[in-house]
Amino acid sequence: MMIDKKLNFLLTGGAGYIGSHVANLLLDKGHEVTILDNLITGDQRLIPKPAVFENIDISNKKDLNKVLKKNTFDVVLHFAGLIRVDESVLYPEKYFEFNFTKAKIFIDTCIENNLNNIVFSSTASVYGNPNKDRVSENDNLNPLNPYAKSKLNFENYLIEKKNQNKINYVILRYFNVAGADKKLRTGLISKNSTHLIKIACEVATGKKKKLIINGTDYNTKDGTPIRDFIHVSDLSEIHLICAMDLIKNGNSQIYNCGYGKGYSVKDVISEMNKLIPKNLNVENGQRRNGDSEKIVANTQKFCKHFNWKPKFDQLDYILNTALEWEKKLK
Ligand SMILES: NC(=O)c1ccc[n+]([C@@H]2O[C@H](COP(=O)([O-])OP(=O)(O)OC[C@H]3O[C@@H](n4cnc5c(N)ncnc54)[C@H](O)[C@@H]3O)[C@@H](O)[C@H]2O)c1
Repeated sequence: MMIDKKLNFLLTGGAGYIGSHVANLLLDKGHEVTILDNLITGDQRLIPKPAVFENIDISNKKDLNKVLKKNTFDVVLHFAGLIRVDESVLYPEKYFEFNFTKAKIFIDTCIENNLNNIVFSSTASVYGNPNKDRVSENDNLNPLNPYAKSKLNFENYLIEKKNQNKINYVILRYFNVAGADKKLRTGLISKNSTHLIKIACEVATGKKKKLIINGTDYNTKDGTPIRDFIHVSDLSEIHLICAMDLIKNGNSQIYNCGYGKGYSVKDVISEMNKLIPKNLNVENGQRRNGDSEKIVANTQKFCKHFNWKPKFDQLDYILNTALEWEKKLK
């Protein structure tokens, strides 16, 4: 599917980990990018220079209207939101406000300004604890924590708006996103990240003392949870493909974004140990509230529809780029 024309992207959350990677890819391909971010968890240093940056909250209708009225965007990529499962368990209202209420105001304002194509960053955690080896888009949804519920609520809102013929959407359910840009232009900065690979890199570079395994009594091969890791550069390409499909075909769809490969926490630790001089300092800990036991994507829908193959689906590559980024951050 080719679109030769330069496209104009509106990207929320572009000062964050994934949004900044996607922004770099879009600019590399010659497109225009405007980023909306209030920097609540993002970092302005991650915003690529050629992008236009508006430091606003996505629910600030006045500021948003100004941006929407002075531009004609082809599509919105909506990354902005809060992402910590543990925090969402403590402060569920905050998660509903940021991930649902604010997002609703945002998309309603886009619709009022005739911006009707949206790619939304959802999460595999909407599936909860699927009772199968690989979970598909039409399997049961069972969000186990307020973060996942807030994301599912917004998915449903988009579907409702589509049914009223107001928008077309692509909902991307990310599995565990990891790694960094090959050129190390951007990566994960967040100081209090709960991402396993981020913490492993922090321990490997001496920024943290130890890695705590959250639960060793799960019903898995080694007792630790199993996840499907996708490299952020492959995920970025998926966004571009979906955005072009939306613009060209108006095809509203939901896709899983993973590799269909399950690695346990202990698998990740031992793969990391191969890349570093001294083994990670690891301690067994308690389960975290709201964590699933095993969640791996069935990726057939996206791969078949677009005849797509990932480029970076090796755990050592994912870990290496994450580690190189962490060293650069020092
Ligand atoms: N990282 C993952 O593994 C993962 C997995 C599944 C889904 N996701 C989803 O992907 C998206 C991006 O995640 P990330 O890892 O890049 O997170 P991130 O925290 O690095 O980025 C989120 C960005 O959104 C901005 N933001 C938040 N609320 C805002 C608001 N109201 N107005 C303007 N800006 C706001 C933050 O400042 C930040 O720059 C999120 O929606 C998240 O739920 C991420």
